[in-house]
Amino acid sequence: MAGAGEAGGRAPGRVGRGGGRPRGGERGGTPALTLAGVAKVYGEDGTRVRGVGGVSVGIPRGCGAAVMGPSGSGKSTFLRCINHLEKINAGRLYVDGELVGYRQRGGRLYELKDSEVAMKRRDIGMVFQRFNLFPHMTALENVMEAPVQVRGVAKSEARERAAQLLERVGLADKAGNYPSQLSGGQQQRVAIARALAMDPKLMLFDEPTSALDPELVGDVLDVMRDLAESGMTMVVVTHEMGFAREVGDSLVFMDGGVVVESGHPRDVLTDPQHERTQSFLSKVL
Ligand SMILES: Nc1ncnc2c1ncn2[C@@H]1O[C@H](COP(=O)(O)OP(=O)(O)O)[C@@H](O)[C@H]1O
Ligand SMILES: [Mg+2]
Repeated sequence: MAGAGEAGGRAPGRVGRGGGRPRGGERGGTPALTLAGVAKVYGEDGTRVRGVGGVSVGIPRGCGAAVMGPSGSGKSTFLRCINHLEKINAGRLYVDGELVGYRQRGGRLYELKDSEVAMKRRDIGMVFQRFNLFPHMTALENVMEAPVQVRGVAKSEARERAAQLLERVGLADKAGNYPSQLSGGQQQRVAIARALAMDPKLMLFDEPTSALDPELVGDVLDVMRDLAESGMTMVVVTHEMGFAREVGDSLVFMDGGVVVESGHPRDVLTDPQHERTQSFLSKVL
């Protein structure tokens, strides 16, 4: 065990090591997410930008990880790699024990077809800073859309489930509203319900509250807190310290495309080991 007094501080990349509040979901077994030496470089020679480099993180099932770091540090790239939206240049990435983007056979890697990648992406829910709801569809229709179109669920069944999900995010009375008739916080809660409608194994959030007026942030965080309590595995890019501390089993701090430090949020937030983490936290706390 990496004690706080040990040279080098906490072991990098070891996250979700317990100590969090008990959750409803199943924990342990195959990690929900494993990144081993993952690197992503954007652009051709001359314009190459490192999105992330050599990132190693493991997140057990049913755990929540918060990701923090300055703008441009690679947080979105980190999520986009997990969601197969970016092809990685090095390393291995596993979701639920399965290699992302490749099939391994006899020690060799074979790239999956786009259709196979798309199929796997369905198991991962993603919520963005901007809610990206379909403007011409009601809240209910937005939530029903993917199950019907992508999974082939019957409309009546999808409608019933969508109504339940809207109730879960506190919007039962807004089912018939169009996005333009909803506040930013309400739209974001519809976006969360929409992601949940696909029964994801893993939920990724990319700064879900940073585009919201301050008074609307709380309701969205409450929904995410409830989701964490229910045992959903979640990776949340957020600068909401209270939320990270309360809901996160681990906190990953990134800078310059690498994981600088990770550990229990309580430890990282109160006793950061690295100068870059200390300097960042001193600016945002
Ligand atoms: N599509 C892209 N093309 C080229 N460079 C990109 C692209 N997306 C991100 N980058 C670069 O990768 C680095 C990490 O960006 P990003 O993951 O968006 O950081 P963050 O989310 O922490 O602000 C930055 O230097 C950024 O400019
Ligand atoms: Mg980002």
